[in-house]
Amino acid sequence: MSELKDHDSGILDLDFFTAQELVPNPYPYFDELRSKCPVTRESHMGVFAVTGHAEAVTVLKDPDNYSSCISVSGPFPGLPFTPEGSDISEQIAAHRTELPLHEHMVTMDPPDHARARSLLSRLLTPKRIGENKEFMTRLADQFIDEFIATGSCELMGHYGKSFALLTIADLLGVPEEDHEEFRTVLGSPRKGARPGALDKEVMAENPLQWLDDKFTAYLADRRETPRDDVLTLLAQATYRDGSIPELVEVVRTATFLFAAGQETTTKLITAALRVIGERPDLQQKLRDDRSLIPTFIEETLRLESPVKSDFRVAVRDTTLGGTDVPAGSTVMICPGAVNRDPETFTEPNEFDIDRANVREQLAFGRGIHSCPGAPLARAEGLVTIEKFLDRMADIRISEEHHGPEGDRHYDFEPTYILRGLTELHLEFTPIESEKA
Ligand code: HEM
Repeated sequence: MSELKDHDSGILDLDFFTAQELVPNPYPYFDELRSKCPVTRESHMGVFAVTGHAEAVTVLKDPDNYSSCISVSGPFPGLPFTPEGSDISEQIAAHRTELPLHEHMVTMDPPDHARARSLLSRLLTPKRIGENKEFMTRLADQFIDEFIATGSCELMGHYGKSFALLTIADLLGVPEEDHEEFRTVLGSPRKGARPGALDKEVMAENPLQWLDDKFTAYLADRRETPRDDVLTLLAQATYRDGSIPELVEVVRTATFLFAAGQETTTKLITAALRVIGERPDLQQKLRDDRSLIPTFIEETLRLESPVKSDFRVAVRDTTLGGTDVPAGSTVMICPGAVNRDPETFTEPNEFDIDRANVREQLAFGRGIHSCPGAPLARAEGLVTIEKFLDRMADIRISEEHHGPEGDRHYDFEPTYILRGLTELHLEFTPIESEKA
């Protein structure tokens, strides 16, 4: 598929939500929207697209005027009511439970949101994340062991998916003896597994339902028979007012982490390794000075934000970035667009490892819904890059799969929600000690 060029005429005639031409490179489309106005109504779904950094921060930090009730689903299927008047707060309240994912924190508004999110507080302590990082380090080695001798890997299938999945499993305290089952059932293949080893019978038809059942069993067991483990901490979590949540509410919190944290992190890892494979100069810089890795990860998040669109509904008539936004409008924040806003980031399309204000990037959102998994995702990126650099020299893009330098082709997930590669084939030279 040919990529769109900068300022392609007529690019805004394309439907962002369905146009496959926008998948490999949505950035010229975002630039064109921004050149009209940082808040522009796109013509197909009537969605107000926010491509300006300052305007995105305004929306994300104002949950009273911008409801999260459609944060994931966006304009599909749309509101289950016809907005009436200049304030639709009561209509939202009356119809909230008809909206997709209404039971998850990501679609909630204050005060319910804070209550739901508080159940995470026992999981995301610095101590817990530190322990989880030790696990990640072991896990990275274990997965690399599976393919290192071949001098090549397909990063998504041989590493990323399983790594992100089991990292969350460990965070939640899933016993290690159950990890293989998670890996098999949730469909992250082991390198060298025979084709079909991912037998249809063992793969879950509905992964979230499988996880729900699994966590219901774990947590019910820990409520009945507490142990000295993380699952017990979770089972005994209380709301801030001391009240005890229903089991189903705790289970929901746990399983949602898999939905929110697996694909996103896998996309970050593949984006980062793609840069490392494409840019030997940067690869060498990181080898020479490992303290640059965290900034490298931030810059990858900025330039290749894994979440492509995140939605809100305007609760009241308002004005944003000079554009009138009537109550009931769907507002779309595009992290990949706001992270390339030239008003905030100079030379926004360049990968600049020395970018001083890179932490202003909005790949993890902002405000009350800002990603609680961000420290984990950053740690996953850090551990992965360190391990790959430690164990592999000369990491490069496979020409066999992606074409020669200057004429590469990459396939991206064909969705408007996330931005990321479907596959990344790498080649490398195993570092000497690994060959023994
Ligand atoms: C690179 C990886 C990741 C990216 C880019 C990312 C991005 C985001 C963004 C943009 C939001 C805000 C959504 C909104 O404002 O509507 C969010 C929320 C969330 N993320 Fe992440 N995320 C990542 C990894 C993770 C991980 C590893 C976890 C958990 C283990 C996680 C759990 C969550 C949860 C539970 C929410 C909802 C928070 C709330 O509504 O208060 N995420 N994420």
